Amino acid sequence: MKAITLITGASAGIGAELARVFAKNGHELVLVARRQDRLDALADAIAATGRPRPAVLTADLERRDAVANLAAELSSRGLEPVIVVNNAGFGLSGAAAALDRAEQLAMIDLNIRALTELSLVFIDSLARHRGGILNVASIAAFLPGPGMAVYYASKAYVLSFTEALHRELSGRGIKVTALCPGPVQTEFQARSGMRLPPIARIVELSAQEVAQIGYRGLMRGKRVVVAGIGNKIAVTLLHLIPNAVLLASLQNRR
Ligand SMILES: NC(=O)c1ccc[n+]([C@@H]2O[C@H](COP(=O)([O-])OP(=O)(O)OC[C@H]3O[C@@H](n4cnc5c(N)ncnc54)[C@H](OP(=O)(O)O)[C@@H]3O)[C@@H](O)[C@H]2O)c1
Repeated sequence: MKAITLITGASAGIGAELARVFAKNGHELVLVARRQDRLDALADAIAATGRPRPAVLTADLERRDAVANLAAELSSRGLEPVIVVNNAGFGLSGAAAALDRAEQLAMIDLNIRALTELSLVFIDSLARHRGGILNVASIAAFLPGPGMAVYYASKAYVLSFTEALHRELSGRGIKVTALCPGPVQTEFQARSGMRLPPIARIVELSAQEVAQIGYRGLMRGKRVVVAGIGNKIAVTLLHLIPNAVLLASLQNRR
């Protein structure tokens, strides 16, 4: 079996940059998302740098059978993950009671269910290779998010689950890291209907910077990586403020 790094949500934004960083550091890749044309273009671009061309697998990870199908496809191609990068995710902006319920549940299917299944399904192969799991959370994981309630809660799950897994799998030689980016200009804003407030510019990083920080954090075996000094300060301050005060000060996003 050939050892590969599996990256979800590689067709855009942070995931595409993670693919470039992993490829640059000599990892052979399998790229996963729904848009095949985007994945093919990225695979071609990576191949053009002289690295092996990543394999491309299209999957809608909101579907219940997606991970089982993905695992079967990898196995039939003689590929086994040494690292899994759970990056695919989306948010929705608006009051939870007003937003479409099916869409919010689909967000949970992607951000939580698929991430959990993909974190667990390849553990034997990750352990054999002393590999790792990089789960993309967010600084949203550190506070409740009125106006984006389900998204924030989904990222709190990712952070909590990943920290616990870090502890559980350390004895098997598997590195497990939660990457917590702050604001990054990607397709995320258009899909979520979220507008970044001007103040977010202060802590904004590029997708490329976030990908490099995430890669380094995983390789160093960090449990949690908050991307960028501004976000680190913000998260430290958040720990000092009671949720009641925080919630009273947060305006509902439209
Ligand atoms: N941008 C930010 O400010 C920010 C901040 C903190 C954390 N994050 C997190 O970072 C991660 C990447 O976000 P991004 O900003 O790079 O967003 P993005 O540009 O919208 O990219 C999202 C990626 O997820 C894939 N995806 C979405 N739905 C999918 C599905 N049902 N099945 C398979 N793949 C799916 C998309 O590909 P297809 O559409 O081709 O399927 C795309 O490759 C997310 O987990 C997000 O929550 C983002």
